[in-house]
Amino acid sequence: MSQKVLYLQSKQGAFAVGANKIPHPGHGEVLLRVTAAALNPIDWKVQAYGVIVNRYPAILGMDAAGTVEEVGAGVTGLAKGDRVITHTQYENKHAAFQQYVLAVADFTAKIPAEVSDDEGASIPLGLDTAVIGLFGSQYAGLVAPWDQPGKYGGQTIVILGGSSSVGAYAIQAARLAGFSTIIATASLRHEEYLEDLGATHVVDRQLSPSDIKIEVESITSSPVKTVYDAISTKETQETGWLLLAQGGKMVVTLGALVQPGTGDTRQVLQVSGVPYAPQNRDFSRVFWRHLEVYLEDGDILPNNIEVLPDGLRGIAEGLERLQRNEVSGAKLVARPQETL
Ligand SMILES: NC(=O)c1ccc[n+]([C@@H]2O[C@H](COP(=O)([O-])OP(=O)(O)OC[C@H]3O[C@@H](n4cnc5c(N)ncnc54)[C@H](OP(=O)(O)O)[C@@H]3O)[C@@H](O)[C@H]2O)c1
Repeated sequence: MSQKVLYLQSKQGAFAVGANKIPHPGHGEVLLRVTAAALNPIDWKVQAYGVIVNRYPAILGMDAAGTVEEVGAGVTGLAKGDRVITHTQYENKHAAFQQYVLAVADFTAKIPAEVSDDEGASIPLGLDTAVIGLFGSQYAGLVAPWDQPGKYGGQTIVILGGSSSVGAYAIQAARLAGFSTIIATASLRHEEYLEDLGATHVVDRQLSPSDIKIEVESITSSPVKTVYDAISTKETQETGWLLLAQGGKMVVTLGALVQPGTGDTRQVLQVSGVPYAPQNRDFSRVFWRHLEVYLEDGDILPNNIEVLPDGLRGIAEGLERLQRNEVSGAKLVARPQETL
């Protein structure tokens, strides 16, 4: 049986729709009919810079939602017909930009009726990056809400880039952890949306780092011990560093561009949001076991989404929009089954 897939044909080359065999799941895997696949900045970076992927033609895509078609050996808790989301990987049988994907059961979760497949596809990479960065022991190392809900009452957290996919999930994770003051930077048109997710204050992201500091100090006098910088440009890292109290931790999603000086007790930590990374695997297995309940209870809401036209063929243009920074407060989602 054959399926349609989107190939990145060569290093820094063009995308093209092609055909490939539908695989069978191995031990610990399920075969998914992909109804929705989300686009992430990393997908355009792989094409533009030729990084991460070594074998071509390559299939990209880290986020998929769909229906279980076949269950591999050793898998419990998933059955044919289940609607699920999965954190996919850059290997041709395991990447999201195709009509059928092999999903690793450990990082696959059922979604409730309230969450559509398109919305569900926005969850895996963005949420994993937020949750691993905040609660993973290598990163901010906060106590996870499934171990102790609401531990951080009375404390403040700052999330830079609250309207990004990762930022929107970081706000919700901080709410679950109980932070009393959750300050997010974003374009102010997203204020209401971010407050619905749990931000207590939204500060205009266009302000200079020193003006953001003035705003934050007018909101709270308590020290900022945790900053999550979802954007991690030079400017946002400088802002976060300016806000971070001694002894505090700043999580960045790209390479660290600030450094503690002598006697400085602050730390900057670059998160890997990939649950397959050896340092994240055990932590992420536990988190994905809790995820179904968070989604069922409405404790984690998906990103706003925009569905792209033309199935897999619409992805190339969507990635160009992401690269040009033209997507604001939404995740782009493609429907592979609609590929002509
Ligand atoms: N380390 C990892 O494993 C990992 C995993 C996932 C993502 N990432 C990286 O993390 C970054 C974010 O990814 P994403 O998918 O969340 O991005 P995204 O959703 O595509 O980000 C778009 C949003 O960024 C906001 N933004 C842009 N510049 C900003 C600034 N200076 N201050 C505040 N907000 C700003 C925009 O906000 P407004 O619309 O409000 O203006 C827009 O809503 C990317 O660089 C990505 O490659 C890393």
